[in-house]
Amino acid sequence: MRHLIDIRDLTAEEIDRLLDDARDIMARPEAWSRVCQGKKLATLFYEPSTRTRLSFEAAMYELGGNVLGFSAAGESSAAKGETVSDTVRVVSCYADIIAMRHPREGAPLAAARKSGVPVINAGDGGHNHPTQTLTDLLTIQQEKGRLTNLTVGLCGDLKFGRTVHSLLCAMARYEGIRFVLISPEELRIPQYLCTDVLDPAGIPYRQTASLEEAMPDLDILYMTRVQRERFFNEADYVRLKDSYVLTPEKLRTAKTDLAILHPLPRVSEISPAVDDDPRACYFRQVLYGKFVRMALISMLLEVHP
Ligand code: NCD
Repeated sequence: MRHLIDIRDLTAEEIDRLLDDARDIMARPEAWSRVCQGKKLATLFYEPSTRTRLSFEAAMYELGGNVLGFSAAGESSAAKGETVSDTVRVVSCYADIIAMRHPREGAPLAAARKSGVPVINAGDGGHNHPTQTLTDLLTIQQEKGRLTNLTVGLCGDLKFGRTVHSLLCAMARYEGIRFVLISPEELRIPQYLCTDVLDPAGIPYRQTASLEEAMPDLDILYMTRVQRERFFNEADYVRLKDSYVLTPEKLRTAKTDLAILHPLPRVSEISPAVDDDPRACYFRQVLYGKFVRMALISMLLEVHP
Protein backbone atom coordinates (compact mmCIF):
# COMPACT_ATOMS: atom_id res chain seq x y z
CA MET A 1 0.00 0.00 0.00
CA ARG A 2 1.33 3.43 -1.02
CA HIS A 3 0.85 6.78 0.71
CA LEU A 4 1.82 10.25 -0.49
CA ILE A 5 3.24 12.20 2.45
CA ASP A 6 6.30 13.86 0.88
CA ILE A 7 6.68 14.61 -2.84
CA ARG A 8 9.90 12.56 -2.71
CA ASP A 9 7.81 9.46 -1.97
CA LEU A 10 7.30 9.46 -5.74
CA THR A 11 10.14 8.79 -8.17
CA ALA A 12 10.66 11.18 -11.08
CA GLU A 13 9.28 8.43 -13.38
CA GLU A 14 6.14 8.08 -11.26
CA ILE A 15 5.62 11.85 -11.42
CA ASP A 16 5.98 11.70 -15.22
CA ARG A 17 3.36 8.96 -15.30
CA LEU A 18 0.97 10.96 -13.11
CA LEU A 19 1.34 14.00 -15.36
CA ASP A 20 0.74 11.81 -18.43
CA ASP A 21 -2.35 10.32 -16.80
CA ALA A 22 -3.62 13.80 -15.88
CA ARG A 23 -3.30 14.81 -19.55
CA ASP A 24 -5.06 11.65 -20.62
CA ILE A 25 -7.89 12.49 -18.19
CA MET A 26 -8.14 15.99 -19.71
CA ALA A 27 -8.29 14.49 -23.21
CA ARG A 28 -10.60 11.54 -22.46
CA PRO A 29 -12.62 12.28 -19.28
CA GLU A 30 -15.26 9.71 -20.22
CA ALA A 31 -12.74 6.86 -20.18
CA TRP A 32 -11.89 7.63 -16.55
CA SER A 33 -15.40 8.45 -15.35
CA ARG A 34 -16.11 5.10 -13.68
CA VAL A 35 -12.71 3.79 -12.59
CA CYS A 36 -13.47 4.51 -8.90
CA GLN A 37 -17.05 3.25 -8.93
CA GLY A 38 -17.90 1.82 -5.52
CA LYS A 39 -14.88 3.48 -3.84
CA LYS A 40 -14.92 6.20 -1.19
CA LEU A 41 -12.51 9.04 -0.46
CA ALA A 42 -12.48 10.47 3.08
CA THR A 43 -11.36 14.10 3.36
CA LEU A 44 -10.15 14.76 6.92
CA PHE A 45 -9.46 18.49 7.05
CA TYR A 46 -8.38 19.86 10.43
CA GLU A 47 -7.49 23.21 8.84
CA PRO A 48 -9.40 25.53 6.45
CA SER A 49 -9.29 24.83 2.73
CA THR A 50 -11.26 25.71 -0.38
CA ARG A 51 -9.34 24.44 -3.41
CA THR A 52 -7.57 21.43 -2.00
CA ARG A 53 -10.60 19.83 -0.33
CA LEU A 54 -13.06 20.67 -3.08
CA SER A 55 -10.65 19.58 -5.81
CA PHE A 56 -10.11 16.23 -4.07
CA GLU A 57 -13.87 15.83 -3.79
CA ALA A 58 -14.53 16.89 -7.39
CA ALA A 59 -11.72 14.56 -8.50
CA MET A 60 -13.27 11.55 -6.74
CA TYR A 61 -16.76 12.32 -8.11
CA GLU A 62 -15.38 12.63 -11.63
CA LEU A 63 -13.80 9.19 -11.26
CA GLY A 64 -17.20 7.78 -10.36
CA GLY A 65 -16.48 7.44 -6.63
CA ASN A 66 -18.02 8.93 -3.51
CA VAL A 67 -16.79 11.23 -0.76
CA LEU A 68 -17.23 11.58 3.00
CA GLY A 69 -15.40 13.56 5.65
CA PHE A 70 -15.17 16.74 7.66
CA SER A 71 -13.80 20.20 6.95
CA ALA A 72 -12.89 21.48 10.44
CA ALA A 73 -11.40 19.82 13.53
CA GLY A 74 -14.37 21.04 15.55
CA GLU A 75 -16.69 18.90 13.40
CA SER A 76 -14.83 15.70 14.32
CA SER A 77 -14.03 13.71 17.44
CA ALA A 78 -10.75 15.68 17.64
CA ALA A 79 -12.95 18.10 19.60
CA LYS A 80 -13.42 15.31 22.18
CA GLY A 81 -9.69 14.62 22.35
CA GLU A 82 -9.39 11.73 19.87
CA THR A 83 -5.89 11.34 18.40
CA VAL A 84 -5.25 11.49 14.65
CA SER A 85 -4.02 7.88 14.80
CA ASP A 86 -7.28 6.65 16.28
CA THR A 87 -9.34 8.71 13.85
CA VAL A 88 -7.62 7.20 10.78
CA ARG A 89 -7.96 3.66 12.13
CA VAL A 90 -11.67 4.29 12.37
CA VAL A 91 -11.97 6.04 9.00
CA SER A 92 -10.03 3.18 7.32
CA CYS A 93 -13.07 1.03 8.09
CA TYR A 94 -15.32 3.34 6.05
CA ALA A 95 -13.18 4.65 3.21
CA ASP A 96 -10.75 3.31 0.56
CA ILE A 97 -8.42 6.32 0.61
CA ILE A 98 -7.86 9.34 2.88
CA ALA A 99 -6.79 12.93 2.12
CA MET A 100 -5.71 14.71 5.31
CA ARG A 101 -4.83 18.33 6.07
CA HIS A 102 -3.55 19.16 9.55
CA PRO A 103 -1.98 22.23 11.21
CA ARG A 104 0.68 20.04 12.85
CA GLU A 105 3.75 19.09 10.84
CA GLY A 106 4.01 15.30 10.55
CA ALA A 107 0.37 14.50 11.40
CA PRO A 108 -0.37 12.82 8.02
CA LEU A 109 2.81 10.73 8.40
CA ALA A 110 1.70 9.58 11.85
CA ALA A 111 -1.73 8.85 10.40
CA ALA A 112 -0.28 6.79 7.52
CA ARG A 113 1.48 4.50 10.00
CA LYS A 114 -1.84 3.50 11.52
CA SER A 115 -4.03 3.62 8.45
CA GLY A 116 -5.40 0.56 6.69
CA VAL A 117 -5.82 2.57 3.46
CA PRO A 118 -3.61 5.00 1.48
CA VAL A 119 -3.16 8.45 3.08
CA ILE A 120 -2.49 11.58 1.04
CA ASN A 121 -0.95 14.60 2.76
CA ALA A 122 -3.13 17.56 1.76
CA GLY A 123 -0.89 20.00 3.68
CA ASP A 124 0.77 19.63 7.09
CA GLY A 125 1.46 22.85 8.95
CA GLY A 126 4.35 24.84 7.50
CA HIS A 127 5.98 21.65 6.18
CA ASN A 128 4.82 20.02 2.93
CA HIS A 129 2.02 20.03 0.37
CA PRO A 130 2.80 17.38 -2.25
CA THR A 131 -0.49 17.49 -4.20
CA GLN A 132 -0.11 21.25 -4.72
CA THR A 133 3.31 20.42 -6.15
CA LEU A 134 1.84 17.91 -8.60
CA THR A 135 -0.56 20.69 -9.59
CA ASP A 136 2.32 23.13 -10.02
CA LEU A 137 4.36 20.67 -12.09
CA LEU A 138 1.45 19.97 -14.43
CA THR A 139 0.86 23.72 -14.75
CA ILE A 140 4.51 24.41 -15.59
CA GLN A 141 4.60 21.57 -18.10
CA GLN A 142 1.39 22.72 -19.79
CA GLU A 143 2.33 26.40 -19.84
CA LYS A 144 6.04 26.15 -20.63
CA GLY A 145 6.14 22.81 -22.44
CA ARG A 146 8.95 21.52 -20.21
CA LEU A 147 10.14 20.98 -16.65
CA THR A 148 13.83 21.42 -17.46
CA ASN A 149 16.11 24.42 -18.06
CA LEU A 150 14.06 26.96 -16.15
CA THR A 151 14.89 29.83 -13.83
CA VAL A 152 12.29 29.58 -11.09
CA GLY A 153 11.59 32.55 -8.79
CA LEU A 154 9.92 31.62 -5.51
CA CYS A 155 8.59 34.78 -3.90
CA GLY A 156 7.03 35.68 -0.56
CA ASP A 157 6.82 33.57 2.57
CA LEU A 158 9.43 30.92 1.85
CA LYS A 159 9.76 30.04 5.53
CA PHE A 160 6.24 28.91 6.33
CA GLY A 161 4.96 28.33 2.77
CA ARG A 162 4.62 24.56 2.56
CA THR A 163 3.87 24.63 -1.18
CA VAL A 164 7.28 26.20 -1.77
CA HIS A 165 9.08 23.50 0.23
CA SER A 166 7.52 20.65 -1.75
CA LEU A 167 7.93 22.40 -5.10
CA LEU A 168 11.60 23.08 -4.46
CA CYS A 169 12.22 19.40 -3.61
CA ALA A 170 10.42 18.27 -6.77
CA MET A 171 12.00 20.72 -9.21
CA ALA A 172 15.49 20.12 -7.85
CA ARG A 173 15.35 16.73 -9.61
CA TYR A 174 15.07 18.17 -13.12
CA GLU A 175 17.99 19.20 -15.37
CA GLY A 176 19.00 22.82 -15.68
CA ILE A 177 16.86 24.27 -12.87
CA ARG A 178 18.03 27.46 -11.15
CA PHE A 179 16.21 29.04 -8.22
CA VAL A 180 15.93 32.68 -7.24
CA LEU A 181 14.60 32.78 -3.68
CA ILE A 182 12.88 36.13 -3.17
CA SER A 183 11.84 36.94 0.39
CA PRO A 184 12.45 39.27 3.30
CA GLU A 185 15.35 38.15 5.48
CA GLU A 186 12.95 36.81 8.16
CA LEU A 187 11.01 34.65 5.69
CA ARG A 188 13.87 32.85 3.93
CA ILE A 189 13.54 29.10 3.19
CA PRO A 190 14.37 26.78 6.09
CA GLN A 191 18.07 25.97 6.20
CA TYR A 192 17.49 22.20 5.79
CA LEU A 193 16.27 22.76 2.23
CA CYS A 194 19.64 24.32 1.35
CA THR A 195 21.77 21.74 3.16
CA ASP A 196 19.73 18.60 2.38
CA VAL A 197 18.29 19.36 -1.06
CA LEU A 198 19.93 22.21 -2.99
CA ASP A 199 23.59 21.93 -1.97
CA PRO A 200 24.02 18.13 -2.37
CA ALA A 201 22.44 18.26 -5.83
CA GLY A 202 24.59 21.25 -6.82
CA ILE A 203 21.52 23.29 -7.80
CA PRO A 204 22.38 26.95 -8.50
CA TYR A 205 20.35 29.36 -6.36
CA ARG A 206 20.54 32.85 -4.97
CA GLN A 207 18.60 34.66 -2.28
CA THR A 208 17.41 38.22 -2.70
CA ALA A 209 14.88 40.53 -1.10
CA SER A 210 14.17 42.33 -4.38
CA LEU A 211 11.52 41.09 -6.80
CA GLU A 212 12.41 43.94 -9.19
CA GLU A 213 16.03 42.82 -9.33
CA ALA A 214 15.09 39.17 -9.96
CA MET A 215 12.29 39.75 -12.48
CA PRO A 216 14.18 39.93 -15.83
CA ASP A 217 15.81 36.50 -15.29
CA LEU A 218 12.70 34.50 -14.46
CA ASP A 219 10.89 31.87 -16.55
CA ILE A 220 8.54 31.04 -13.67
CA LEU A 221 7.39 33.40 -10.92
CA TYR A 222 5.76 31.50 -8.05
CA MET A 223 4.06 34.02 -5.75
CA THR A 224 2.92 33.07 -2.25
CA ARG A 225 0.83 34.53 0.56
CA VAL A 226 2.44 35.48 3.87
CA GLN A 227 1.15 32.68 6.14
CA ARG A 228 -0.54 34.67 8.88
CA GLU A 229 -1.70 31.59 10.82
CA ARG A 230 1.88 30.42 11.36
CA PHE A 231 3.22 33.67 12.85
CA PHE A 232 3.88 33.92 16.56
CA ASN A 233 2.84 37.53 16.72
CA GLU A 234 0.49 39.71 14.71
CA ALA A 235 2.87 42.70 14.63
CA ASP A 236 5.42 40.71 12.60
CA TYR A 237 2.71 39.61 10.20
CA VAL A 238 1.48 43.17 9.71
CA ARG A 239 5.02 44.37 9.06
CA LEU A 240 5.75 41.67 6.48
CA LYS A 241 2.41 41.00 4.79
CA ASP A 242 2.82 43.51 1.97
CA SER A 243 6.49 42.82 1.27
CA TYR A 244 5.61 41.98 -2.34
CA VAL A 245 2.72 43.17 -4.44
CA LEU A 246 2.91 42.13 -8.08
CA THR A 247 1.50 44.80 -10.39
CA PRO A 248 1.45 45.29 -14.19
CA GLU A 249 4.20 47.93 -13.77
CA LYS A 250 6.52 45.44 -12.06
CA LEU A 251 5.98 43.01 -14.96
CA ARG A 252 7.37 45.48 -17.50
CA THR A 253 10.87 44.04 -17.16
CA ALA A 254 9.67 40.40 -17.18
CA LYS A 255 10.11 37.93 -20.04
CA THR A 256 7.21 37.86 -22.48
CA ASP A 257 6.78 34.12 -21.86
CA LEU A 258 7.02 34.27 -18.06
CA ALA A 259 4.52 31.98 -16.27
CA ILE A 260 3.07 33.44 -13.05
CA LEU A 261 1.81 30.81 -10.60
CA HIS A 262 0.21 31.10 -7.17
CA PRO A 263 -1.23 28.22 -5.12
CA LEU A 264 -4.02 30.57 -3.95
CA PRO A 265 -5.66 31.93 -1.86
CA ARG A 266 -4.16 35.30 -2.74
CA VAL A 267 -4.41 38.16 -0.29
CA SER A 268 -2.60 41.26 -1.54
CA GLU A 269 0.51 39.83 -3.21
CA ILE A 270 -0.89 39.91 -6.76
CA SER A 271 -2.92 42.90 -7.86
CA PRO A 272 -6.17 41.86 -9.61
CA ALA A 273 -4.97 44.09 -12.47
CA VAL A 274 -2.50 41.27 -13.33
CA ASP A 275 -5.25 38.67 -13.79
CA ASP A 276 -5.90 39.50 -17.45
CA ASP A 277 -2.22 39.28 -18.39
CA PRO A 278 -1.77 36.11 -20.49
CA ARG A 279 1.23 35.25 -18.30
CA ALA A 280 -1.05 34.87 -15.23
CA CYS A 281 -1.61 31.10 -14.92
CA TYR A 282 -3.03 30.85 -11.40
CA PHE A 283 -6.65 30.25 -12.29
CA ARG A 284 -5.74 27.66 -14.93
CA GLN A 285 -3.52 26.10 -12.24
CA VAL A 286 -6.64 25.43 -10.13
CA LEU A 287 -8.17 23.31 -12.90
CA TYR A 288 -4.96 21.36 -13.43
CA GLY A 289 -5.09 20.54 -9.71
CA LYS A 290 -8.29 18.57 -10.10
CA PHE A 291 -6.95 16.50 -13.01
CA VAL A 292 -3.69 15.64 -11.30
CA ARG A 293 -5.54 14.61 -8.11
CA MET A 294 -7.71 12.32 -10.26
CA ALA A 295 -4.52 10.75 -11.59
CA LEU A 296 -3.09 10.39 -8.07
CA ILE A 297 -6.21 8.80 -6.55
CA SER A 298 -6.30 6.32 -9.45
CA MET A 299 -2.64 5.49 -9.01
CA LEU A 300 -2.90 4.88 -5.25
CA LEU A 301 -6.07 2.80 -5.67
CA GLU A 302 -4.43 0.93 -8.54
CA VAL A 303 -7.29 1.53 -10.96
CA HIS A 304 -6.92 2.53 -14.61
CA PRO A 305 -9.25 2.59 -17.62
C1 NCD B 1 -1.91 26.65 0.01
C2 NCD B 1 -1.81 25.90 1.34
O1 NCD B 1 -2.83 25.50 1.89
O2 NCD B 1 -0.69 25.72 1.76
N1 NCD B 1 -3.21 26.64 -0.49
C3 NCD B 1 -3.60 25.61 -1.31
O3 NCD B 1 -3.65 24.49 -0.90
N2 NCD B 1 -3.87 25.89 -2.58
C4 NCD B 1 -1.31 27.99 0.05
C5 NCD B 1 -1.76 28.94 1.12
O4 NCD B 1 -2.63 28.64 1.92
O5 NCD B 1 -1.21 30.04 1.12
